[in-house]
Amino acid sequence: MAELTRRRLLGGGAAALGVVGLGAAGIGRATTTRDEKSRIVAIHGNHQAGIETEPQAFAAFVALDLRPGTDRRDLVGVLKVWAQDAHRLTTGVAGLGDSEPELAEDPARLTVTVGFGPGVFGPGVFAPDDAAKLRPEWLRPLPAFGIDRLEDRWNGGDLLLQVCADDPVTVAHAVRTLTRTVRSQVSVRWVQRGFRNAVGTLPEGTTMRNLMGQVDGTVNPAPHSPEFDSRVWNPGSPLWLAGGSSLVFRRIRMELDTWEELDRPARELTVGRTLSNGAPLTGTAERDDPDLDAVDRNGIPVIPPESHMARARPRNADEQFLRRGYNYDDVDGTGLLFASYQADVDRQFVPVQQRLADHDALNRWITPIGSAVFAIPPGFGVDGYPGETLLE
Ligand code: HEM
Repeated sequence: MAELTRRRLLGGGAAALGVVGLGAAGIGRATTTRDEKSRIVAIHGNHQAGIETEPQAFAAFVALDLRPGTDRRDLVGVLKVWAQDAHRLTTGVAGLGDSEPELAEDPARLTVTVGFGPGVFGPGVFAPDDAAKLRPEWLRPLPAFGIDRLEDRWNGGDLLLQVCADDPVTVAHAVRTLTRTVRSQVSVRWVQRGFRNAVGTLPEGTTMRNLMGQVDGTVNPAPHSPEFDSRVWNPGSPLWLAGGSSLVFRRIRMELDTWEELDRPARELTVGRTLSNGAPLTGTAERDDPDLDAVDRNGIPVIPPESHMARARPRNADEQFLRRGYNYDDVDGTGLLFASYQADVDRQFVPVQQRLADHDALNRWITPIGSAVFAIPPGFGVDGYPGETLLE
């Protein structure tokens, strides 16, 4: 009866409003806003989704630890469950045994990206000799930097689930589904939730702003470019990681009370870019090339050499990576969930972080309070799972 009334109300058929049939296992849903294609990100392929994917509005980064006694077979079981549930959820189909299937109806460009912390190479999973051969050398905590004030509750993790979508309900439900089914093998260590602007509030392709108000993410390799391939995807060192990557994840608190005491020109000099549109202080548009040699009529550099941009700029071809972070703002404070992806942490990320830790005008107003490094296994097929090249 209700269905009849609804059809009458729709007048002319559901198709006109874009009713999406998702097959026997799925639940049909009507939407007038986005078509099926724009709601679904394909997760199978050479690389895991969620890195080259145009950043979704919301993210949850979930670190998990293997429970004592969890062995290699158990770990493979967890990864297979995640692969299956990720496939279902990202296509709008409820997870296996999902008690709230309605919450899975809108995938909202959901992606699930799995990472391995150093603990995956522990004795429960690998014999020490094999672990030494298979563990990427950079898969360990970052060196201690002078600026760090790390709190253990935000550090480390044996496994990572990076869950991103354009709808926070989708993210929450996916996290619940993915963690609930595997809790006898793994326990949640920390969850960090982040956000960017909601879909539709800004023109597509606008660079995000962080909560200091700065345009953040201008200098980044373009997706699907040779530059992106060489900086982000691991070429096969070690072999099992070919097509994978690494994630450096840092929780960086912003000291907004003192930041807000600075006047606008001082805030712009700190980064070397304008607040209005993110242009370098020597240019007018966001993507203008900065001129680091330009001086004003008193001979003073227009972009201060100690500004964040000047210090962060690569000194050689290796020092480049993808930044795909999210804002956070909760009872614990405000800041940036800094997330960078690179083929090799030691070669690409560490020299830049070391230089910034040594000297960066921004350091007075930012404090790293959490840190973790993960290997991101390569992509997988419909019958596969993340990490199969390592664990099979
Ligand atoms: C650039 C903010 C932490 C590396 C920038 C820019 C801003 C910014 C506003 C200029 C626009 C852009 O190109 O994106 C911040 C804030 C941070 C932070 C607020 C902490 C809360 C970091 C960290 C690293 C880093 C931890 C790496 C260790 C870079 C790099 C660039 C950059 C490589 C591009 C430099 C260039 O080639 O022009 N950041 N950043 N940033 N940042 Fe950060």
